[in-house]
Amino acid sequence: MTVWRSVITGVGGYLPDRVMTNAEMARIVDTSDEWIVSRSGIRQRHIAADGEKTSDLALNAAQRALDSAGTSASEIDLIVLATATPDETFPATATTVQAALGITGFPAFDVQAVCTGFIYALATADNFVRAGQSKNALVIGAETFSRILDWEDRTTCVLFGDGAGAVVLSAAEATGTPQDRGILSTHLHADGTKHDMLYVDGGPSSTQTTGHLRMLGREVFRHAVTNLSAVVHEALSANDMTPNDIDWLVPHQANKRILDGTAKKLSLPAERVVVTVDRHGNTSAASVPLALAEAVQDGRIQKNHIVLMEAMGGGFTWGSCLARW
Ligand code: UT7
Repeated sequence: MTVWRSVITGVGGYLPDRVMTNAEMARIVDTSDEWIVSRSGIRQRHIAADGEKTSDLALNAAQRALDSAGTSASEIDLIVLATATPDETFPATATTVQAALGITGFPAFDVQAVCTGFIYALATADNFVRAGQSKNALVIGAETFSRILDWEDRTTCVLFGDGAGAVVLSAAEATGTPQDRGILSTHLHADGTKHDMLYVDGGPSSTQTTGHLRMLGREVFRHAVTNLSAVVHEALSANDMTPNDIDWLVPHQANKRILDGTAKKLSLPAERVVVTVDRHGNTSAASVPLALAEAVQDGRIQKNHIVLMEAMGGGFTWGSCLARW
């Protein structure tokens, strides 16, 4: 049977110039490089410049993804942008990126699933492609979490950073089997009863302010390990694969200990896990495409490799995507 598959033809990442080290963080709140590294694996993060918006980061990542795909902006017919830190409450940051790319007419919208946002956006765009409604989609994860952090709360402000990543999905005719190149399956979940474990204490209809990120870290950690393990196995069994089939695990980068825990449960050697959390911190929806961009550019991820992406975030939301590169 002939089906449409979304092949990832290009990927790009963008980080703001300014690097903030743990030593600098220790001058702002009562913390230390030793605590941050031992509890999270984070050594530094990038922080957007004054006036540098989520759409600016997204545009840079999108242009790099288009360049690497060899696709011109005029060929794009869908933009799905994942962010929890949009430029404005509305319009969608995706439309700002669309305008900046000089293209109009086709659908462009934001997806809000916090740290799982990129997986949700990828699944959404993949469904458009598989339904025959998009030939070339731009999927972006972009965040300026530095703007919603409480810089007096050491339990959260040390963990996050700013950045953006993007991929180009192009429709290709395929056989409908796991031998196809492209996205093989996506798996999305949510549990709204866990709101209070990770949320922002503000918004247009509640406080009319932007609010600050609040997290019960230990609880989120516990749920992350359980949910990520489940959603990774869900993706493998949906494609009749085992952990041995995975060439690259590209996880959401929240905490090195969570990455290690997921890899251990899969008996996956550390060399097959793409890690950026040490240099980027947690960039929420941008973390998976930033990690993809790094591993594609340095030659680790190659054509036909099996790549398993996963993420977990506020909501709770969690999900995975299995692709043959
Ligand atoms: O991307 C969305 C998903 N997010 C995540 O997956 C994050 C999940 N959670 C985590 O990554 C970890 O739980 C944290 C890194 C947030 C915290 O690590 P932890 O090992 O769970 O530490 P903890 O929260 O249990 O705190 C241990 C101690 C506490 O002191 P007491 O109560 O034991 O005296 C904290 O007050 O560490 C203290 N602490 C700090 N000390 C120095 C908390 N933050 C800091 C800090 N510097 N920045």
